Amino acid sequence: SSTATKNTDGALQVGGVDVRELVAEHGTPAYLLDEADFRARARAFREGFKDFAVYYGGKAFLCTTVVRWVMEEGLNLDICSGGELAVALRAGADPKRLGFHGNNKSEAELARALDAGIGRIIVDSFHEIERLTRLAAERGVVAPVMVRVTAGIEAHTHAYIATAHQDQKFGFSITTGDAFDAVARINETAELELLGLHSHIGSQIFDSSGFEMAARRLIALHARVSDELGVDMPELDLGGGFGIAYTTQDDPSDPAQLATELGKIVEHECKALDLAVPKLSIEPGRAIVGPAVCTVYTVGTTKEVALDFGESRTYVSVDGGMSDNIRTALYDADYSCTLANRYSDEGPRLSRVVGKHCESGDVVVKDEFLPADVAPGDLVAVPGTGAYCRSMASNYNHVPRPPVIAVKDGRTRVVVRRETEDDMLSLDMGAE
Ligand code: LLP
Repeated sequence: SSTATKNTDGALQVGGVDVRELVAEHGTPAYLLDEADFRARARAFREGFKDFAVYYGGKAFLCTTVVRWVMEEGLNLDICSGGELAVALRAGADPKRLGFHGNNKSEAELARALDAGIGRIIVDSFHEIERLTRLAAERGVVAPVMVRVTAGIEAHTHAYIATAHQDQKFGFSITTGDAFDAVARINETAELELLGLHSHIGSQIFDSSGFEMAARRLIALHARVSDELGVDMPELDLGGGFGIAYTTQDDPSDPAQLATELGKIVEHECKALDLAVPKLSIEPGRAIVGPAVCTVYTVGTTKEVALDFGESRTYVSVDGGMSDNIRTALYDADYSCTLANRYSDEGPRLSRVVGKHCESGDVVVKDEFLPADVAPGDLVAVPGTGAYCRSMASNYNHVPRPPVIAVKDGRTRVVVRRETEDDMLSLDMGAE
């Protein structure tokens, strides 16, 4: 549903805005956020998962404008730090619609969440259970919690973003019995209200079998809790991680179909074990914001480099790089790109789009066939950069972070402004 198209003269148009005009006004690099596309994806999850609560995974990308869109579209919000909580509260989000994650939330973060009246805190360790109990007691409140469970699943994705196998930092293990013990502990604690179990198996996942397996294991644990403790947990969260296509146009995930599959499995398992079917929730981040953004860069230099067998590759250097998109360097992620300011009838040339940072791993797009006449001054657009690009951006080499510009119906609105050198120097206590 992306509204990015090419004009008859070959220039890219996003949300009804010609990128050349946008760049003339706002400069490059810039993240262009297609509001209609974001809202359509949020709505597709809301409608597809109609019996579920849908929490947008704010870590993919968050700013106050996006928080408002998420709330307007009827989604809740998953946050994982005091900073994300601050953004949500500043945007006027209803704290009841926030879920707070993290394996090491600080005392101050937990206190702020409780004081705000947060909807749920997903607890991740025995230390956190103790800490939260004390903080709730001090305030005379009851903290609503879910238990993050490690389901013991090898999700087929990059090792850095898989989270349900045994040997990693998140959650309470089902296999060791920690998950049961955590539930029992919470159940005995008057200051904590046990909402249910939570699992997040990883990110950029296409195969629904991991979700199904996690659901089965969590329901089995639920059944044990129900038998041995006589406790019924009203909710079950299956986390986020729904994959998106980075290098093709096809959209792999059909929210409605996945919802139906998961809903059926949960219902079936619960009936078989004589359990009341819990209210389900999910937490998609990437699948909502990822495809809604493209990054536009200006080409600064090109250089042809000889490869073996008489082949060559053209290095196309752009004015950003690993500071605005670390995913290629960090996860070996695949992106594509397109010439965005004009039509070219030159033949394709094997190109690698690289940034301006001082290291050779600073690659944005590993391989793309760009027209052979791409030259300094041209614009290159990289689609699919909505998730984990601006949110993981850095100031490496003191390069200011790009703005996020929302486009819709031919209008533009800066939702996060470009960082300036003064912004960076304002932290430098030795600066005049
Ligand atoms: N829920 C929990 C508990 C999570 O930890 C995450 C992501 C999500 C939901 C949202 O997952 P999504 O639907 O966006 O895949 N920086 C990595 C991804 C890290 C994901 C961290 N947790 C990347 O760029 O691929």
